[in-house]
Amino acid sequence: MSATPPPRTFHVKSFGCQMNVYDGERMAELLTAEGMRAADDGAAADLVVLNTCHIREKATEKVYSDIGRIVKDGREQGAVPLIAVAGCVAQAEGEEIMTRAPSVRVVVGPQAYHRLPAMVAEAAAGGRATETDMPAEAKFAALPKRRKVGASAFLTVQEGCDKFCTYCVVPYTRGAELSRPFADLVSEARALVEGGAREITLLGQNVNAWAGNDEKGRHVGLAGLAEELGKIDQLARIRYTTSHPADMDDALIEAHGNNPKLMPFLHLPVQSGSDRVLKAMNRSHTAERYLRLLERVRASRPDIALSGDFIVGFPGETEAEFAETLQIIAEARYAQAFSFKFSARPGTPAATMDGQIAPEVLDERLQRLQAALQRDSLAFNHASVGKRCTVLVERKGRHAGQWLGKSPWLQSVHFTGDVAIGDLVEVDLVEAGPNSMGGRLVARAAA
Ligand code: SAH
Ligand code: SF4
Ligand code: F3S
Repeated sequence: MSATPPPRTFHVKSFGCQMNVYDGERMAELLTAEGMRAADDGAAADLVVLNTCHIREKATEKVYSDIGRIVKDGREQGAVPLIAVAGCVAQAEGEEIMTRAPSVRVVVGPQAYHRLPAMVAEAAAGGRATETDMPAEAKFAALPKRRKVGASAFLTVQEGCDKFCTYCVVPYTRGAELSRPFADLVSEARALVEGGAREITLLGQNVNAWAGNDEKGRHVGLAGLAEELGKIDQLARIRYTTSHPADMDDALIEAHGNNPKLMPFLHLPVQSGSDRVLKAMNRSHTAERYLRLLERVRASRPDIALSGDFIVGFPGETEAEFAETLQIIAEARYAQAFSFKFSARPGTPAATMDGQIAPEVLDERLQRLQAALQRDSLAFNHASVGKRCTVLVERKGRHAGQWLGKSPWLQSVHFTGDVAIGDLVEVDLVEAGPNSMGGRLVARAAA
């Protein structure tokens, strides 16, 4: 490869989960600290970072089509940008990417991206660089301090996963579970709040498995961390995602009742309502235990909004087992949920299990599942009409004078009025849609 001038502008495109989005933000901060700047909207960047997701086949294939399009557009415009592939596909298929896509110059895994600037420099000097090591020591120490952020910010507190659900690539792409130290998280949270955040969402593939020692050396879980973060004055709201049913401890359940900054929302995926399927998935809960857990959470915080993830058509799933998933949905009453067709991922045990389900059955089950979930999210939103609540203003809406924010239950609320991004305002919920609520501004809330 021939040398090119060092890139001056960059564009980071994130494809995956919230942790992947967080990584994308941190990569952008790293590149900015090196003196590069984000390319203007729509303008060609000298460096494109594709921050990829490996979770389902579709997500992975998208990377290769994107690379092709970037190269084609670049040739038409006379300059192909330097392409870096980061994220979970980089981790899982690093070498394959380098062979299959000669125009990719940098491949960097999710635990190594603090090295991105050095790797970009190496590539600009005419080389190609790959880094997919998963060092036990955290990359976080090598990242710059957080600066300007939006009203709602992400903070990764826990990385990796030891659960090894039989369908899932995350334990392979992200490595073993690792909790970031308490003090580092408190200081990053402070920096986010100084940068403008009023809400922080704590992130981890198993965020409720986070554990650490507080400033007095006491062993604490996520509830203890949330309590400490609650002491930051200008921080009004704390959320966390994604939780595993096995790690939902008593302290965290109680925190929903006694930490006023902890929002009444819980993303607690069950995946299936069939005990046979749950066992084959290596989920450690039964449908019954999951429902009992929900009862305890609801006893602590009666208005909690529940969210979940579902997989339809896991190998061997019968119609009767699928019906059990519809049944658990009816009992759990989700405010919102994500649902997916099973996707066989190379290297995972489920990919080679007997009883792989035909695509048309996957389609049909997903449709029925989504109809049930939509019915429930609409019911949840209808039940919210008439409530007065606090909304955190996050951005401008599509129409003049319109604003968008989030209710405590994570509903998108649109309303008009004289407010600014980052304000916490009192809003009456007056209208319910499937994906959002209409609100009427009452007053600015006391901050
Ligand atoms: N750690 C979280 C989220 C993991 S990935 C958890 O345990 O819940 C997000 C979601 O993607 C999963 O909850 C699951 O519903 C879905 N998913 C993961 N692997 C999948 C696969 N191979 N096929 C279809 N959906 C999958
Ligand atoms: Fe994947 Fe299961 Fe770990 Fe979630 S808990 S990341 S689904 S292996
Ligand atoms: Fe995707 Fe990796 Fe997140 S596979 S879902 S980006 S952890």
